[in-house]
Amino acid sequence: TDLAHLVVAIDGPSGSGKSTVARRVAAALGLRYLDTGAMYRAVTWWALERGVDLADTERVAQLARELRLEQGLDPEIETLSVDGADIAAAIRTSRISAAVSAVATNLGVRAELVARQQAVARAGGVVIEGRDITTVVAPDAPVRVLLTADEQVRLSRRALEVHGSADADAVDATRDQVVRRDADDSTVASFQQAADGVDVVDSSLLSLDETVAAVLKLVEARTGVR
Ligand code: DC
Repeated sequence: TDLAHLVVAIDGPSGSGKSTVARRVAAALGLRYLDTGAMYRAVTWWALERGVDLADTERVAQLARELRLEQGLDPEIETLSVDGADIAAAIRTSRISAAVSAVATNLGVRAELVARQQAVARAGGVVIEGRDITTVVAPDAPVRVLLTADEQVRLSRRALEVHGSADADAVDATRDQVVRRDADDSTVASFQQAADGVDVVDSSLLSLDETVAAVLKLVEARTGVR
């Protein structure tokens, strides 16, 4: 496999650090980077913007098919716009985080976004990160990684990210959101267990640098690329 056609597929639950790790791996290898969670967030943002009831699955799926999404693939800078409006910051708000599972569990939305993601995978030279990349979007990718971490570790990381602290109160405030979202999300994509042939990297006891190094080592082991 040469770098220009390489696809590295990375899945994991929230707080596993997969976005940061995937970006760093892409940058290290000179590959592009696709954040598929951002796509589900973009559909959610647009549906809410348009005042569409997220329970109206047909209507939301239709919106996903019509969505004019421009998503940058540079691992160093996130750019995301819908109809020319920059929504990179808007999709990270708690309003979107709280609503996105309703969109991510919409099978019509998934069919549309998976097709778009597969077009990027076909072009190659990309690290793709999400929940169903190793199993549905790019099951034939030469490198497939499930990034995990103990629940307590994931909660602390999320608390730090969202509340700027990992003390007991911050972790409590995060627990509901993380645990419930992972439970909701697992109903459509099974990212808690590694599928056949998927390498598991447990980052519980690893620093960010060590986790990135572990994934790069897998890339080398699977493809000879270093
Ligand atoms: O990784 P994230 O928090 O940005 O993901 C946003 C939501 O989308 C989350 O509920 C999981 C879901 N998701 C998914 O179902 N499939 C993907 N490939 C990526 C994200």
